[in-house]
Amino acid sequence: MAGDQKDPKHEIALEARETSGERLFSPSAARNRDPIRNVFLQTMPLEGTILEIGGGTGEHGVHIAASAPGLRWLTGDPDPASQRSIAAWIGASGLPNIEGPHCVDAAAARWGVEDGGPFAGVVSINMIHIAPFDAAEGVFAGAGRLLSTGGKLFLYGPFSRNGEHTSPSNEAFDASLKARDARWGVRDIEHDLLPLAQKNALMLEKLVEMPANNLSVIFRKN
Ligand SMILES: C[S@@+](CC[C@H](N)C(=O)[O-])C[C@H]1O[C@@H](n2cnc3c(N)ncnc32)[C@H](O)[C@@H]1O
Repeated sequence: MAGDQKDPKHEIALEARETSGERLFSPSAARNRDPIRNVFLQTMPLEGTILEIGGGTGEHGVHIAASAPGLRWLTGDPDPASQRSIAAWIGASGLPNIEGPHCVDAAAARWGVEDGGPFAGVVSINMIHIAPFDAAEGVFAGAGRLLSTGGKLFLYGPFSRNGEHTSPSNEAFDASLKARDARWGVRDIEHDLLPLAQKNALMLEKLVEMPANNLSVIFRKN
């Protein structure tokens, strides 16, 4: 996905972002990074390597890595502007435990980071609804391939349950996503994600309700 394109259908972030040098500042990440980090610290492995997919500006990775010194955090994004932002955020952080950017496209059959594994965790925040469904399929397939036994997949975003939106705002958001790109849309835990989990030897471990009708969803590799 080309982040530098101006066609609104190809926007990668549905928000206006401030910049400082190459660093991008995401207003949504500023709002949700603390709740996401807190759930991550309670539910995910805190040792080993975490692979973040669709890292965007790089802010979530830096924020969580700063709070989890036992982790090695590997982050990246297929979008060039996001890759530059990730590199700049990593540089500015001075943290020894975060690396990147990689350029993994979740939908690709091979991610090119296989040598960095096996991974204790795979993380994807606010991505699978703003991409065609093959990105969701790819995240589950990649987690199934690359997680060590007992490793975990962490997803964050808006999700529907059993085919029903959990709030009017999520329903409106889903319609706006589909108007931008018919292949995008809020994914359903039971109808979309559980079949992908089963196909890839992942078991739903925990659902955590988050602010603004979002969920953190944690799967465990059997
Ligand atoms: C809305 S942004 C979220 C960024 C960041 N995770 C956050 O929450 O601030 C979605 C990101 O997913 C990336 N993305 C889209 N399709 C992808 C794919 N197939 N594989 C990996 N990343 C993808 C985009 O480039 C974009 O940076």
